[in-house]
Order: sequence, then structure tokens, then C-alpha cells
Amino acid sequence: MLVVYLLMNATIFITGGAGFIGSHLVDELLARGHRVISADNFALGRRENLAAALKNPRFTFRELDVNNLGATVAFLREQGQVDEVWHMAANSDIPAGVNNPDVDLNLTFLTTFNTLKMMRTLGIPRLVFASSSAIYGAHDGDLREDTGPLFPISNYGAMKLASEGCITAALESFLKQVWIFRFPNVIGGRATHGVIYDFLKKLRANPAELEVLGDGTQEKPYLHVTELVNAMLHIRDHGNQRLNYFNIASVKSAATVRFIAEAVVRTAAPGASIRYTGGSRGWVGDVPKFSYSIEKLQALGWLSKLTSQAAVERAIQENLHLAK
Ligand SMILES: NC(=O)c1ccc[n+]([C@@H]2O[C@H](COP(=O)([O-])OP(=O)(O)OC[C@H]3O[C@@H](n4cnc5c(N)ncnc54)[C@H](O)[C@@H]3O)[C@@H](O)[C@H]2O)c1
Repeated sequence: MLVVYLLMNATIFITGGAGFIGSHLVDELLARGHRVISADNFALGRRENLAAALKNPRFTFRELDVNNLGATVAFLREQGQVDEVWHMAANSDIPAGVNNPDVDLNLTFLTTFNTLKMMRTLGIPRLVFASSSAIYGAHDGDLREDTGPLFPISNYGAMKLASEGCITAALESFLKQVWIFRFPNVIGGRATHGVIYDFLKKLRANPAELEVLGDGTQEKPYLHVTELVNAMLHIRDHGNQRLNYFNIASVKSAATVRFIAEAVVRTAAPGASIRYTGGSRGWVGDVPKFSYSIEKLQALGWLSKLTSQAAVERAIQENLHLAK
């Protein structure tokens, strides 16, 4: 069923707005003239990420755990009518969730569950959700939106898949429209985690050698955060189904861990050696190789400008301070 509801001068609540992707989204929605409200508990987010936004009179921020339903509802009641919610809060440290499953239960699943309860209480009709390639698990060939069966191999992926399920159930009962985005590896300035972040931090600790988990052949699509935000807003404005769900990735390209390690060393610590720990998998819960079909996204009229490799080179420059 087609539902046309354009995002114009809307009031938008973003969970996890002090995080990597959330803060770029806050900046872009403010630049497009919206009123933006956000909450973050600073589990991984940082106030500095919102330095520019906090000066904008159309922005309101509260340090808040969105699993505290009463406090979140009370905060939003103070703000007047909210048109839609962009739910970005989650645990983004996948290995942390492998070691302790409670992390993803609380931060990845329950934040979604409680966000839905909050929306039902306040009668907010539209939800945009940050999902992940991790819901697919390991498959050969390009991952399409209808690839299955879906057997995630990390708690993080499992809790994102469960979140998608609760969201589609809510669409059946009280939500009016939903956009689910399955992100690839997103990189760029203000990163709070991820392979480039880890490599630069490791070089800071030991500028002579970079240790790389696995044999460097792990290969995935990478997308620069500015392009991700741009793609999300494009889909939000042009995806007119009641339930819109899309893979988002760069034009068909991927980067290997070896490519990233060599680029990081070349830029941040020329001359450092690279030591691979061996084996085709990096860490438990990691899908070592995947590629995305972006046919659906292309058909909606969006294509990235940067390849995965170009996005990697740019993101290294933007995060170079981490190695110093
Ligand atoms: N970065 C990626 O490559 C990637 C890939 C796939 C999906 N995603 C998803 O995109 C979203 C944003 O990820 P990111 O990379 O910006 O990670 P991030 O950790 O920088 O951002 C998540 C934010 O949520 C906040 N948060 C966590 N639990 C909270 C809670 N209970 N209450 C309030 N705030 C809470 C954190 O403090 C953090 O600021 C997440 O849902 C993540 O799972 C990211």
C-alpha cells in the first residue's frame, strides 16, 4: 500500500543522537530545517559529537537511557508533538555482545522494544530503524533484502532481527509507517568503533607494528557516514510503502581487511609492520565476507559517489587523531 508522507518541517526524535551515525544525522536533519530532539545515555556516544547541534535553537538534547520508559515519555511530553522517531541507539560493539549476551539484550533489543512502547504511549506514528547486515548471518553471494533463511551468528545480529520483528508487529497494530535500513560497515569522522578505529588505536599503542586479527582476506562493503545519512533521507522521502526495508551500501565494491590495514599504516605510521594472526575469520560473531545487492536502492534512485576503497581512505584521514 502506498503512503505518501513527506518529511517537511517535522519534529523528529533520535535515540542515540550523540553516537557516530546519530550525530551526523542530527546535523543533517537540522540543516534541512527540522526540529530535532535527541536522547543518549553516553554508553558510547559523546557530547562533543553534538557541539554544533547544541548551539542550534531547533535542537533539544537530554542525557537519558531510553530503556527508562517513564523518563523518556516524560521528556518527550515536555517537547510537544513528535512526528517520527529515528531509532539509532544500540550496542555497536559486536564483540562486547559476544562476550556478554546481556549487552545486546539490553542495548540492541530492549531499546527497540521500549522505543515502541514509548511510541504507542505517545501516539507517534512513524519509525525509522537502523538495522544491520548482521541479521542475515553467513550466506554465499550477494545479500538481497529477501535472502534467507535468516540465521544471525552474533547476539547483536539476533537482537537486530528480533527488533525488526517487533517493529513489523507494531506496524500491524499501531504504527502507520516504517523504514528499516540494513546498514553495511559505516565509517567516517566521529567513529566510536570499527576496524579503522581499532587499527588507529592499536598504532597509537604500538607505532611499530599493527596486529590484524585473521589473515586479511575478510572483505565487506564500506560506506562513508555522510553518504549513509544521504541515502537514509533519500529512502525516507521516496520509500512510500507502509513497510520500507532496504540494504544500504556503496556502488558494488568491497574492501579487504588487508587493504584497510595497508592504507592505515601508509597514512598513520609509514614503515610499521603488519602482523596477521591467521585464519579466515577475524573474531567470533563476525561474518568474514559478504556483499550486498543494492538493486532495490538503485531502483529508488540512489547511488553512492564513493567506492568502499575511497570511503576507507577518507575515513582514515578523518580519524587520524586516534593514532596520535
Ligand atoms: N556503524 C556501523 O557500521 C553500523 C552498522 C550496522 C548498523 N549500525 C547501527 O546504527 C546505529 C548507530 O550506530 P553507531 O555506529 O553510530 O554506534 P554508536 O555506538 O556510535 O551509536 C549508538 C548510540 O546509542 C547510544 N545508546 C546505547 N544504548 C542507549 C540507551 N539505552 N539509551 C540511550 N542511548 C543509548 C550510545 O551511547 C551511542 O551514542 C546502531 O543502531 C547500530 O547498531 C551501525
